[in-house]
Amino acid sequence: MTQLTTASGIPVNDNQNSITAGPRGPVLLQDFHLIEKLQHFNRERIPERVVHAKGSGAYGTFTVTHDVSKYTKAKLFAAIGRQTETFLRFSTVGGEKGSADTERDPRGFAVRFYTEEGNWDLVGNNTPTFFLKDGIKFPDFIHTQKRDPQTNLKSAQNVWDFWSKAPESLHQVTILFSDRGTPDGYRHMDGFGSHTYSLINDAGERVWVKWHFKTLQGIRNLTAAEAQRLAGVDPDYAQRDLFNAIATGDYPRWSVEIQVMDDARRAAWEAQTGWDAFDLTKVWPQGEFPRIPVGILELNRNPDNYHADVEQAALSPSNIVPGLGYSPDKMLQARLFAYHDAQLYRVGTNHQHLPVNRPRCPFHNQQRDGAMAVANGGAAPNYDPVHADVPAVGGFGHGDAGWPVEGNAGRYDTRATDDHFTQAGNLFRLLTEEGKRNLIANIAGSLSNADAATQDRQIGHFLKADTAYGQGVAEAIRALQNQA
Ligand code: HEM
Repeated sequence: MTQLTTASGIPVNDNQNSITAGPRGPVLLQDFHLIEKLQHFNRERIPERVVHAKGSGAYGTFTVTHDVSKYTKAKLFAAIGRQTETFLRFSTVGGEKGSADTERDPRGFAVRFYTEEGNWDLVGNNTPTFFLKDGIKFPDFIHTQKRDPQTNLKSAQNVWDFWSKAPESLHQVTILFSDRGTPDGYRHMDGFGSHTYSLINDAGERVWVKWHFKTLQGIRNLTAAEAQRLAGVDPDYAQRDLFNAIATGDYPRWSVEIQVMDDARRAAWEAQTGWDAFDLTKVWPQGEFPRIPVGILELNRNPDNYHADVEQAALSPSNIVPGLGYSPDKMLQARLFAYHDAQLYRVGTNHQHLPVNRPRCPFHNQQRDGAMAVANGGAAPNYDPVHADVPAVGGFGHGDAGWPVEGNAGRYDTRATDDHFTQAGNLFRLLTEEGKRNLIANIAGSLSNADAATQDRQIGHFLKADTAYGQGVAEAIRALQNQA
């Protein structure tokens, strides 16, 4: 049996009885073991993530199966068969840390690749799109998804009030209320990088890219009724499913694939469609931009300690490695700031020193000290010596050529002229009859809890996407009201 010790390694001979003055007490201040135990217990919680608080994580391996070196010089893709250690955290978005896994919500799909050139984090969702196209609206949107400030209840009124006044959300709302809004655990859904990113090859040429993770377990969704039942009887359904699958050697796998657009193609496609290739509310049609296979991601190791590895994991879309790049997407640009900032508060100044966050390759910088500095650079200089004999490798951005920008600095509102409806309508028309029925019933069940003006505004958006969509929702709400 392991000897119990204090945190300082001192053997503890009795962990059942406090030191007291006499058998009935009082308790003596000198019982340091008791005090340390209570003190540490009082400090066990760190703030939960401001979004995506409920989640599950696992380690795994990414293996390259196809040569994409003509698009990217990133070393992790340099040879077929090359393997990179990965970590993936799945999550729901709006619920608290103790909320149910099966709630209707997008699912987070945040992958870290521990590459030989540093950590690459692709922090995506199980949806190819999002509700917004400008990060300035994100805090307001999330406030409507969380609890009302007065009632402390989730509010369908707040949710639909926001969406009905943000028609750019329509595409993602359609995905969310379809059967895909309640995936059967985390293994049976796809993942997406969602944003447009870039790939840069050895010649410095940039192409725009979207990342896809296609589940090899097959897509499986829960019905709304089953998701609701599980929320009651097994709120940790997805955590249990993932942990048990990995523990029994049934390792979940995803095919990692990309869609690619060079800049000339981007300009032509934008001119032809009127859509913006960097707009997160839009997909790139796969008929025109077919998926190209890259590799296989397998999850094969449960973390030993949930708090250390999953709760303290701090992934950020700003973490990209040479050969990969960002795009002008306004949402992405906001996220490049938001994550590290959140983690400085949530986990601490030196969150990158923790084992789950620390790069697997050597790393050197001049950031020093602060709370819990456990990888503090040893005796290495704490300033940049700027040696003349060290070759310049380019600044952050990896020395790659940038992309051209145009126009005056300002706040641009394109919502009046943007097309929010065609892609949402296309998705509706793609659904099976049963899929359409479920979508309409799921929306009506929720939207019927909002006031009449909000319902009308939102139905107006559905009608613009597809008449049958709008009429279907309006009729379903009327039927619910007649039942009541
Ligand atoms: C988590 C902000 C949009 C996916 C977070 C966190 C913040 C945040 C602050 C918590 C980070 C932490 O404490 O570790 C934002 C902002 C957004 C935005 C400001 C818009 C401007 C998105 C989008 C996606 C996304 C578009 C998906 C495409 C995620 C995921 C997590 C997360 C998956 C959880 C990461 C993990 O598992 O640790 N977001 N987010 N977010 N966000 Fe976002």
